[in-house]
Amino acid sequence: MNTTTPAEAPVFAVDGLWKVFGPEKAAARVPGSADATGLSATELRERTGCTAAVRDVTFDVRKGEVFVVMGLSGSGKSTLVRCLTRLIEPTAGSLSIDGEDVLAMDAGRLRALRRHRAAMVFQHFGLLPHRTVLDNVAYGLEIQGVGRGDRRDRAAELVAKVGLEGLEERRPGQLSGGQQQRVGLARALAADPEVLLFDEPFSALDPLIRREMQEEVARLHHEEGRTMVFITHDLAEALRLGDRIALMRDGRIVQLGTPEEIVGSPADDYVRDFVRDVPREQVLTVRTAMRPAAAGEAERGPALAPATTVVEAIEAVARSGGPARVVDHGRCLGVVDDAGLLAVVAGLPATPGRGVAA
Ligand SMILES: Nc1ncnc2c1ncn2[C@@H]1O[C@H](COP(=O)(O)OP(=O)(O)OP(=O)(O)O)[C@@H](O)[C@H]1O
Ligand SMILES: [Mg+2]
Repeated sequence: MNTTTPAEAPVFAVDGLWKVFGPEKAAARVPGSADATGLSATELRERTGCTAAVRDVTFDVRKGEVFVVMGLSGSGKSTLVRCLTRLIEPTAGSLSIDGEDVLAMDAGRLRALRRHRAAMVFQHFGLLPHRTVLDNVAYGLEIQGVGRGDRRDRAAELVAKVGLEGLEERRPGQLSGGQQQRVGLARALAADPEVLLFDEPFSALDPLIRREMQEEVARLHHEEGRTMVFITHDLAEALRLGDRIALMRDGRIVQLGTPEEIVGSPADDYVRDFVRDVPREQVLTVRTAMRPAAAGEAERGPALAPATTVVEAIEAVARSGGPARVVDHGRCLGVVDDAGLLAVVAGLPATPGRGVAA
């Protein structure tokens, strides 16, 4: 979109971002103040009358990744994501999309940002009840200024893309929750946005449908490589979808990392507690479990890619009856054996030397 930006530049670059709710003058004084760094959210509210919903948050969203924002209710997830397109006005900090300063955008630029570059999918789908599925999706194109003829063709394509073929003429009230969310998704895709922002889109759905929708999002991401920012308070959902996860607490990001980093090396007790019940063997990979190869081991045994999960490696090692090699582009990074794999399952800390090639 922005031809002057190198391909590896982030989509969103967020630096030292704050959102403080409260009387404007008082709120503006909070970022960076001693109160803001020293006090809990409750103490800060009592002292200043302000709520610091997002506190000094810094991160990049990379092109093509699914960036998950996770945290308990009230931790600041929705506020943070709404700040990205200034649906909520940040109090302090800097924010850019493809190198363009979002805080400097005028009303016209902002409208274009929300319509064409960053489309939002909400929990309550916000469909027009009297319009058909096709017209709801076409509505997304109408506000884009797409002509009538093109609209219906393109809407039909999108309806098919999200798996709703045959339901084009139904009204939202005649659809299940999952189907309605698919319409919401198709409408957001109609803008062909560079990035999709999801605010807990599936939390109102029952677990089976929810799983189906997660697979739908994973499929769309896989097929199109579209950048996504996905809010959830559900850890399993975050681990399933996220390339990277930002875990929020009290307006701050307490840890930002891959699912493997969050589960394998929690930054503090809060994160450790959060991920305690995660089946580690399904998230951690052989990179965590491997040790340096001893003499002769680098040439023997089944070869596994570095992204192989521990649970998959257990099967390979059980079948072969001996250690397996972790091989990346023809190079042996190390080996995994039953002791190393069991250590991961048992949640033992990594042995010194593990994960480091000899
Ligand atoms: N308009 C507002 N005015 C004052 N405080 C607000 C406003 N919007 C949100 N807050 C407060 O900011 C904090 C973060 O809210 P936010 O909605 O971002 O949380 P969340 O992580 O999305 O929670 P949930 O999982 O419940 O959706 C909360 O303490 C909330 O009460
Ligand atoms: Mg929210």
